[in-house]
Amino acid sequence: MARWTLHVPIEDDHPQPLTTRIAHAIVQEIRRGRLRPGDALPGSRTLASSLGVHRNTVLAAFDALRAEGWIEAESARETRVAAALPEARAKRFSARAEPRAALPEQPGFSLTPSPPPREREEEPGAIALFGGQPDLGLFPVDAYARAFRRALKMRQKTLLDYGSPVGHPALRRAVAQMLSSLRAVAAREENVLVTRGSQQALDLLARALIAPGQVVAVESMGYGPAWQAFRSAGAAVEPITVDAHGINVDELDALCQRTEVRAVYVTPHHQYPTTVTLSAARRMALLALAKRRSIAIIEDDYDHEFHYEGRPVLPLASGDPDGHVVYIATLSKMLAPGLRVGFVVAPAALIDALARWRVYVDRQGDRVMEAALAEMIEEGELARHARRARLAYLERRDALAEALRKELGEELAFEVPRGGLALWARLVGRRGADGFCERARSQGVLVQRTRTMAFDGGDRPWVRLGFAGNDPTLLREAARRLRRAVRATSTR
Ligand SMILES: Cc1ncc(COP(=O)(O)O)c(C=O)c1O
Repeated sequence: MARWTLHVPIEDDHPQPLTTRIAHAIVQEIRRGRLRPGDALPGSRTLASSLGVHRNTVLAAFDALRAEGWIEAESARETRVAAALPEARAKRFSARAEPRAALPEQPGFSLTPSPPPREREEEPGAIALFGGQPDLGLFPVDAYARAFRRALKMRQKTLLDYGSPVGHPALRRAVAQMLSSLRAVAAREENVLVTRGSQQALDLLARALIAPGQVVAVESMGYGPAWQAFRSAGAAVEPITVDAHGINVDELDALCQRTEVRAVYVTPHHQYPTTVTLSAARRMALLALAKRRSIAIIEDDYDHEFHYEGRPVLPLASGDPDGHVVYIATLSKMLAPGLRVGFVVAPAALIDALARWRVYVDRQGDRVMEAALAEMIEEGELARHARRARLAYLERRDALAEALRKELGEELAFEVPRGGLALWARLVGRRGADGFCERARSQGVLVQRTRTMAFDGGDRPWVRLGFAGNDPTLLREAARRLRRAVRATSTR
């Protein structure tokens, strides 16, 4: 028998169970070479008494080590270190692995229907002026890490398990409270579904509301990812013009007279991409039309907090006693898009239907993160962050507007937006923006192609320039580079 002493930390408040600690200590001895393949281990009784623990604890540690392949039971009474250790086996396996022939470029069957167009491209070193990008450098890393760690440590057994597809109850409650106090939306816990961003909210709504062939009206220009979600459920998507007052409700009314419209998707607060706010008269007309025709209004309020002139305009959902508005919100702008957290707020029967669809899409959200976010909302951390970010973005909006006026005063016409994270500018005297976006890229500035916002995919002489993701110095540099891009663009 090998002669060695096993050191096992035995403090009562140790985060790991005793069994795990014993198993870990034995693995350490094997790794250090003090126990070698084939060496006999002391009997469980001997080891238990030397460690001052119950024999069953040692037996459980042996079971775990056997299952992982570290030790082998020679007989009922004799246990030895395995002849081929798991790590050595793994090394042999990887050393032997030959690179295999690559998978074929194409699958062996047709790729129809063809996939949606590719999303935006990245380019290291370039200044990205993508429209809705928040500044991830402002993310409250410490507060989030603390809340996440606390949630995981205190509630690991429930949070890591399967859970409800509607989202963590604490987050649903916190969101309902936040929406009712800050946005006057009369939401309770049962009215909130936590999703992975607005995009999943749109996808679930499309599944739950739309039968193939049904009509969904959308803003044009507008938000392509929403159109795509409706189309994948088989919707016939119909564009409605947007002007300086938002979506043209008369045009929508005319569409309703020609055909049955199931739903209308709108971004009333800061219209995507034009940034205009839906006028009061149109808001009332839209709500009245929805009521008259039993249409669902899907209201995407994606950057509510970021309003710089006066108070944010209240959502349509705040004035909807009849349950026509389905309200979508997201943390992608307020916190970070990579968290993938959004919400649907709607009458409880719709939330229940969406939750049933959700089970087959991704089962449930990230419950540890949801619990952590609930704590951040309850403790006011999210509100503090939003205030800090709003002040920074206000400064950046003004810095970009000033720099563009200075560098491109003749070539770009725009109004300073009252809210949102982007500025919508017309390229004076040009027919499209493709050439501008290309030249901007070659000067090291990334601008989203305007075609992606046009319903017919056609080019338009407008650009959406995000100001939130970069500090004023970078924004000024971006404006200088854009000037070079404009001067070099000949397409008119
Ligand atoms: C109109 C609109 N809705 C929603 C979002 C956010 O989407 P998600 O919550 O899926 O990140 C964006 C982001 O660019 C947007 O522009």
